[in-house]
Order: sequence, then structure tokens, then C-alpha cells
Amino acid sequence: MKKSKKPVIDENGLCLNEYKNNYNNAKVYYERAIGKAPEMETSKAMARQLKKIIKQEDEILDVGCACGHFYRSIKKRVKKNFYYTGVDPYKIFLQKGKIAWKNNKNVKLIRGNIYNLPFRNNEFDISFCSNVFIHLNDIKKPLKEIMRVTKRKIILRTVLFDVSYKIQLVYNKKWWSDVDVSPINEFDDKGSPRAYSYFNILSFDYLTQNIKKIYPNAKIKIIKDDFYKKSNISKSLKNEKRPLATKILANEQVSGCILQPHYFVIIEKKK
Ligand SMILES: C[S@@+](CC[C@H](N)C(=O)[O-])C[C@H]1O[C@@H](n2cnc3c(N)ncnc32)[C@H](O)[C@@H]1O
Repeated sequence: MKKSKKPVIDENGLCLNEYKNNYNNAKVYYERAIGKAPEMETSKAMARQLKKIIKQEDEILDVGCACGHFYRSIKKRVKKNFYYTGVDPYKIFLQKGKIAWKNNKNVKLIRGNIYNLPFRNNEFDISFCSNVFIHLNDIKKPLKEIMRVTKRKIILRTVLFDVSYKIQLVYNKKWWSDVDVSPINEFDDKGSPRAYSYFNILSFDYLTQNIKKIYPNAKIKIIKDDFYKKSNISKSLKNEKRPLATKILANEQVSGCILQPHYFVIIEKKK
């Protein structure tokens, strides 16, 4: 793939320089998928939540699956036969994921976007989506889509707080080699960043009221994700060498200088 460094923000507010050209992230996710790198603390915690609800022969969807590395954690803990579909818009992750899972008939990886999921209504028994909502400009359509394709339960993992914050992380080429923006040009004449990714924090009220608006009978349970081992997060930070990788400060997850209180939001679609 030819590497373009001109900043491209797509219609959903994603910085494509980060996703299309980020070989290091793809390598990290691939190594997690094949078991060469340790499981993420998040994928272990997600697998434990899923273990409580997966039934025999269930169809499971992972939205924003990257290389399908969560499948390894789920498979390890759930001793039932289930089918895993991962969906992600970016080839760089899917290509590697397809190599990682080529011999596993219960795994499918499909190209698609949470704003318009390529699936039928209620096609999946359970869907989950980890570390994706934080990067989305708008979450109303993604919520609608994930609830539309799911029959029983949806688990989202994202950053929540009492109030919402709309945060743009601004790239420059000094620390992010995939963009051509000099530090002096980070913002244009209107004060808007040229290359950025969202790292949004949603209020509990905004998220839950929007879920209820789409599906008034939904039952919502919110669980703080403090299931991680601090020492494992510190090891990944050291080994994976990713800028702004998660660290722990005062028992809270932190990226750069932003506190990231993560939660699992478990949505049950009740008739
Ligand atoms: C921070 S990574 C998280 C990967 C994995 N879910 C995890 O928790 O480790 C965000 C993932 O979401 C994907 N993604 C970004 N925008 C998306 C969209 N609009 N629809 C679906 N997936 C998206 C990215 O390609 C990437 O694989």
C-alpha cells in the first residue's frame, strides 16, 4: 500500500492516516490474535462477560474487530460451540486477521462499518463493541445499527462519565509519523485541527437515553471495567511501544493526559 501522509478525516470523523497506515497497530493486533502477544486485559474481561450469556450455537458479532483478537480470549473461556463474526472497515487489520484464523471454520471476518452494518435485522444473538465508540463523531446511528442486527444482548465497552467531553487528539509529524503536519501547523486558520482522532467521553445520561430512544424496553446494566491487572497493562505499554498506550494512574486508566474510566454497558433487548 502506498503510504500517504496527507491528513484524511473520513465522513465518520476517523483519521484514516491512523487506521490505513498504522502497521504497528496491525502487528500488535495480529500477534494477539495468534497468541504470540499476551491477551489484552480488556479482551479477557469482555470474554468473562460474554461467558455469562453465550448459549450453544450462538452467533456472535464483534464490531471494530481489528484482527479478531478477542476471539482467542472468548474461545479460551467459553466451552460451547458458537460462531464468531468480526466486522471492521480497514483492510490492513482484516487481511492479517484472515491469516490468523484461516483454519477456524467458526470465524468469519467481514469488511463493514458500524454506521451501516452489512447484516440483516437480528442476525446475531449477541454483539459486542470494544474501544470503538470513543473514536466516533456521532454515536446515534452506530447504536441503532448494532441494536438492529442483534437479537438478545449487546455489550459496549467505552469511556463514560457524569458529563460528556468531545475530545480531539491532534496529530503532528513529530510524534505521529503517519501525518505530514508540522507542529506549527497543527491547527488551521479557523482553529480546527488538521489531523485528529476523537477520544470522546460520553455522559451516562446521553448514552442511556439514546439507547432507550431507539429501544424503549431495553434493560441497561453498566459495570465499571476495573477488572484489569495493572502489571499486565504496564508490560504491554513497555513491549508494544504505542504512543498514548493505556497506563494506570491512581487506579484509573489513562491515555496521554486523559483519564479514561471505562465501562461495560450491557443492553438487553426485551420485547
Ligand atoms: C481502538 S481499536 C479497538 C480494536 C478492538 N475492538 C479492541 O478493543 O482491541 C478500534 C477498532 O475499531 C475499528 N473502527 C474504527 N471505525 C470504525 C467504524 N466506523 N465501524 C467499525 N469499526 C470501526 C478500527 O478499525 C479498529 O479496529
